[in-house]
Amino acid sequence: MLDCLGAIARATSLGSDDADTWRARYRFVHGNICDAKLMTDLLASEQPDVVMHLAAESHVDRSIINPSAFIQTNVMGTFTLLDSFRHHWQNNQHPDNYRFLHVSTDEVYGSLSIDDPPFTEETPYQPNSPYSASKAGSDHLARAYYHTYQLPTIITNCSNNYGAYHFPEKLIPLMAINILLGKSLPVYGDGQNIRDWLYVKDHCRALDTVLHHGKKGETYNIGGNNEVKNIDLVQLICQIMDEIAPNLPVKPSQQLITFVKDRPGHDRRYAIDSSKLQQELGWKPQATLETGLKETLQWYVENRQWWQPLLSEDYQKYYQKIYGVEP
Ligand code: TYD
Repeated sequence: MLDCLGAIARATSLGSDDADTWRARYRFVHGNICDAKLMTDLLASEQPDVVMHLAAESHVDRSIINPSAFIQTNVMGTFTLLDSFRHHWQNNQHPDNYRFLHVSTDEVYGSLSIDDPPFTEETPYQPNSPYSASKAGSDHLARAYYHTYQLPTIITNCSNNYGAYHFPEKLIPLMAINILLGKSLPVYGDGQNIRDWLYVKDHCRALDTVLHHGKKGETYNIGGNNEVKNIDLVQLICQIMDEIAPNLPVKPSQQLITFVKDRPGHDRRYAIDSSKLQQELGWKPQATLETGLKETLQWYVENRQWWQPLLSEDYQKYYQKIYGVEP
């Protein structure tokens, strides 16, 4: 789910014409959220009224092979950021306009069967992977800081994001890149698992809405209203890529689809009921799966110089471990 820190910064309120204004208001600091001194120093020097916490280890397959990084970043990192923000808020005499927006995932709610209603904010937590368990822990911390210290936290739980600048290991960019390279398209298990896909620009608008109009201490679910089986999604990706990408090495690209060994503990279905956010705050998703996918895939076709360097030696080792072959 939450993979798109860069995309979110890009898509908030400023359009591309405002790029200079945007750059003038933006400072990138390459740091670690587990670094308490850095977090404290940055809050003291920048004096923000809002923290949007989107930093996370987010890939389920990586959490299966190396869970400790997930506990460290997602649990300890969230704690460090929350606690630094608590001191910052207290030093400034608890201003009313301060917010800590904790961005999380629908995976904390567990897995649905085909007939279950979608997850609401009241669905009990039942995380199934080290990743979702670590995000559940971080959600509980954000909630506890509101109840214990009245720190003005808000939690959002979103469905699977997709869009530009998405790291190649996730389903949609992985399929797009492998089609462009003429490599096989690994579909786990029987391909019948269902995800609810949320276009990143819709997610950005939702976060902006929650930040400005959401209630302190509340949780809001954010979903794309786009439930689809993995195999149908991969077929749609192939169809669009065949239409938009010139000189594909293998065409029709559907020939590349390969069913591979299932992910351990693979959640069957996620689906989000975002009616609270829609009814109380007036947000709704604008992209359909077709419009969002076309924009996203076009971006991968045109931005090879962005993704090619990411297929580094480290990435190849990871790929080999997960899929048993090189990308
Ligand atoms: P992913 O993008 O990893 O997101 P999440 O695990 O958070 O839902 O995977 C989306 C779905 O696609 C999930 O059901 C697993 C499946 N999948 C594949 O079938 N093959 C792949 O190579 C990957 C990365 C995912």
